[in-house]
Amino acid sequence: MLTMKEVRIHAFGGPEVLSIDDVPRPQPRDDEVLLRVVASSVNPVDYKIRSGQYGGSRQSNLPIVLGRDVSGVVELCGTRAHTLKKGDPIFAMLDHDRGGHAEFVVVKATEMAAKPDDTDHLQAASVPLAGLTAWQALFDHGKLKAGQRVLIHGGAGGVGHFAIQFAKAKGAWVATTVSKDDLEFARSLGADQVEDYKNELFEDLVEPVDVVLDLISGETQDRSWAVLKPGGILVSTLSEPSKEKARERQASGVHFMTQSNAAQLAEIGKLIVEGKVRPHIDAVFDLAEVGNAEARLEKEHVRGKVVLQVSSPP
Ligand SMILES: NC(=O)c1ccc[n+]([C@@H]2O[C@H](COP(=O)([O-])OP(=O)(O)OC[C@H]3O[C@@H](n4cnc5c(N)ncnc54)[C@H](OP(=O)(O)O)[C@@H]3O)[C@@H](O)[C@H]2O)c1
Repeated sequence: MLTMKEVRIHAFGGPEVLSIDDVPRPQPRDDEVLLRVVASSVNPVDYKIRSGQYGGSRQSNLPIVLGRDVSGVVELCGTRAHTLKKGDPIFAMLDHDRGGHAEFVVVKATEMAAKPDDTDHLQAASVPLAGLTAWQALFDHGKLKAGQRVLIHGGAGGVGHFAIQFAKAKGAWVATTVSKDDLEFARSLGADQVEDYKNELFEDLVEPVDVVLDLISGETQDRSWAVLKPGGILVSTLSEPSKEKARERQASGVHFMTQSNAAQLAEIGKLIVEGKVRPHIDAVFDLAEVGNAEARLEKEHVRGKVVLQVSSPP
């Protein structure tokens, strides 16, 4: 039987619960492929699931394989996966029923797109969950259009650094809040106005916007109503915005969960190929160092994405 290594948790807790287990390689169903994973990336959802903070975390789901992002090459095609062949490079955001911190994973057609040319697997693996979150927040939920104004909180993080670039590529005007160390980084991504969230009050400095992208929640979300135009939309990845405050402001609020979307991933890949978007990698760790990778994202100041090198590129 062919085996592989994958990162699993058998209990919720600190980094010590991360276990690198030898397990059988999965088999793709007819319309799926088996991917040889070259790189994966770490997202806040990974340490939230690990520590049991994530809404859907249940003892009965254990053991859980972590990791939503993968980039790699097709190893084996299901009998109906006709458009792909062994060796094709793809990247994907996996649904919650599987994990990408593994040497091999089964990927569905609805989750994957061709890896952007001239982008290595480390860069490609940094994109799917964070990129799709930024995309769906701005365009599906925020309805952001060319010429509109958007305020992005947390613009230097995984989601935020893609959101700034997507909004600029769309032709929107972008303000963002970041730490002092990231002011220049956010400007380099194209942000028109950059505020230091620890030392400035954004509501005193940013003129009204059409869309707020809230990647922080709490008082940052509460204070954001003050900068929203009537008719504007507050989109949060973390908590349901107050209906009362939305009414007072004649605006609306939405909380959403990011979904895999092959067509949107392909659109994002196109922007990367065109040079309009570039993923920023903060640090790279080996699969065996996944605990350090999660600790870096959770406890330290990260710019862009933390990535896992799972295997050597073919
Ligand atoms: N609903 C969903 O489906 C979904 C999908 C993706 C992400 N999320 C959630 O969205 C959040 C952001 O994700 P991410 O991947 O971008 O996380 P991340 O990479 O950890 O980035 C978070 C960023 O926020 C900054 N920050 C912290 N406090 C801030 C504040 N008060 N004002 C402005 N910026 C602040 C941090 O900067 P410093 O390090 O300088 O403090 C960091 O750059 C996470 O909580 C994640 O779980 C939800």
